[in-house]
Amino acid sequence: MLSYRHAFHAGNFADVLKHFTLIQLIDYLQQKDKAVCYIDTHAGAGGYALNSDYALKNSEFVSGIGKLWTQETLPTALERYVSLIKSLNVGKQLLRYPGSPLISKHLLRPQDRMVLFELHSTEIKLLHTLMKRDPRITVNHDDGLSNAIKLLPPKERRGLILIDPSYEMKTDYAQVVDTLEKMYKRFATGTYALWYPVIERRRIDKLENKLRLSGIKNMQLFELAIAADGVNSGMTACGMIVINPPWTLKAQMQEVLPFLVQQLSDNAGFFRIEQLADE
Ligand SMILES: C[S@@+](CC[C@H](N)C(=O)[O-])C[C@H]1O[C@@H](n2cnc3c(N)ncnc32)[C@H](O)[C@@H]1O
Repeated sequence: MLSYRHAFHAGNFADVLKHFTLIQLIDYLQQKDKAVCYIDTHAGAGGYALNSDYALKNSEFVSGIGKLWTQETLPTALERYVSLIKSLNVGKQLLRYPGSPLISKHLLRPQDRMVLFELHSTEIKLLHTLMKRDPRITVNHDDGLSNAIKLLPPKERRGLILIDPSYEMKTDYAQVVDTLEKMYKRFATGTYALWYPVIERRRIDKLENKLRLSGIKNMQLFELAIAADGVNSGMTACGMIVINPPWTLKAQMQEVLPFLVQQLSDNAGFFRIEQLADE
């Protein structure tokens, strides 16, 4: 049974990296008028109230988006992310944090299409309510990994697939690699973004090695660590692995990641940018 609820974590440092990257990827794909198909395999509830008991339990957003909210100067690409979060709030106070579905819905153009998957029985109801009856959006109460494979290649031939599991089950680490391999075989020109947490470094080393050996081309890794790797110290870092990234993304990350380390991490924080596979 799934117990993970993203409401406890909304707006934390992991969401900052994930959603900042997501916006960059969508913006880039939308530079052309041609329609884009966006697939979110693990959608969550869609959006979150930061004054709810869930969000206030550990107030993770305070050390994430909360640290950027009042900054007067931000790197340009990060400014885009913060102003989008601001536009989804009313007034100057940070009270709402959008999930990946709400961010993407906000950016969706009339010609684009969005397909969401969510398994949790409570989250799916919230997601349905937030997405309302938008003809561009399909919400599925189903397993996002196996079902998204079947949608590829999308008829638009231009697509972004976000894979953002909660890694509640240790098998998720192997399953995401297997899924990416299958997706890539069907749609090698798609853009893929895989989020991962660093709780035990050896799991991520293994994930990276498997991806390096997968035959998938043109793959970059961007990681933000708010503390040194640890044992039993929870999530100290997280990363995004992007297949077929925009050529502009690496330079944006080179500017944004050091800034995020400085703003969001303790003295042992660091970032990594790796080319996992060449073009
Ligand atoms: C990290 S949260 C998603 C957060 C969301 N992507 C965002 O950025 O706002 C992961 C979600 O995946 C759901 N989930 C777990 N396994 C799933 C699966 N196989 N298919 C679809 N959803 C799943 C969980 O219920 C949870 O809501």
